[in-house]
Amino acid sequence: MSKTDLYAVMGNPIAHSKSPFIHKAFAKQVGHDIAYDPALIPTEENSFSKAVQEFQQLGCKGVNVTVPFKQKAWMLCHERSARAEKAGAVNTLSFDELGRCLGDNTDGVGLVRDFTKNHQGQLNNKRVLILGAGGAVRGILEPLLAEKPTLCTIANRTVSKAEELVQLFADEGTLIACSYDALIGQQFDVIINGTSASLQGELPPLPDDLLAEHAWCYDMMYAGTATPFITWALAHNAQKALDGLGMLVEQAAESFYIWRGIRPETQAVISRLRERIIREQMMPKAPQTIDTNTTTTTQPVKFMSKKPVNEVGGPEGPEPTRFGDWERKGRCIDF
Ligand code: ATR
Repeated sequence: MSKTDLYAVMGNPIAHSKSPFIHKAFAKQVGHDIAYDPALIPTEENSFSKAVQEFQQLGCKGVNVTVPFKQKAWMLCHERSARAEKAGAVNTLSFDELGRCLGDNTDGVGLVRDFTKNHQGQLNNKRVLILGAGGAVRGILEPLLAEKPTLCTIANRTVSKAEELVQLFADEGTLIACSYDALIGQQFDVIINGTSASLQGELPPLPDDLLAEHAWCYDMMYAGTATPFITWALAHNAQKALDGLGMLVEQAAESFYIWRGIRPETQAVISRLRERIIREQMMPKAPQTIDTNTTTTTQPVKFMSKKPVNEVGGPEGPEPTRFGDWERKGRCIDF
């Protein structure tokens, strides 16, 4: 009898996570027998590290990590990839035979692959503007700078945070930090929105003439409808306005590759996920409640289930709601 390999995504909240859908689709595509479950982790001190330990003891092979635990995951790793080291955050944990915990960060490679492979976009020799200087931006900078843009400007409300990133990544490319006001009169070929402003339905204050001719805009967030940044990009004649759904699937594909040694096809999964998100957006929403300090214990539900991945919660099947109906506008960095 074949043995099902166990994986999970840990976060708080987690009910909105698309990772189970994506990883089950990958597993089905390549014929691997895996279980992949969402786990809501309490936000109290030590809950995350305890949960990781418990999952490891249950035989779990790997864990994806999302908000708000990526920095905690970074800290508990015995070893980290170079890109995770620099990102200061880990979204992919693997456990080796010696019981060690290995950490990687696949967000940046997910963005670059979506931009350059899926959409045939170019970052090399382009003037790139990044909006925001939080954890999400830090997580993508190394793979982005490896594409060798001519110049990478980081604009942020709090300029000191952009300056810190510039210092940290100074060896990897030509980087400049500035305020939004300082963007007046400048033009860029590629603008990447890495702020969390869309979550509040907001947009950083951008000058109207920011886009060079044929400029591309990329929002690291996604939603069933256009994000405020995508709407802005289209209104300002961007040649392309892309959201982060492809990045979400590509970062998952990289995690899958780390764990399973095989790179799944992503196009069909992106399309199916897009349809699913649009469908979800059209459905009436349950009242939103935010669980900020939950005492729910870790529930590796699927680990106790006997049903194989393509019977329950598979790509075409219904996704069981295990942790309530809390939903928010999806963010690619949230899985
Ligand atoms: P994340 O992990 O999503 O990056 P974060 O580290 O809190 O979260 O960073 C959020 C980023 O979005 C920051 O760059 C923040 O700007 P500040 O550093 O000035 O706070 C930016 N941000 C959030 N809301 C914003 C808004 N309404 N307008 C502009 N920038 C915003």
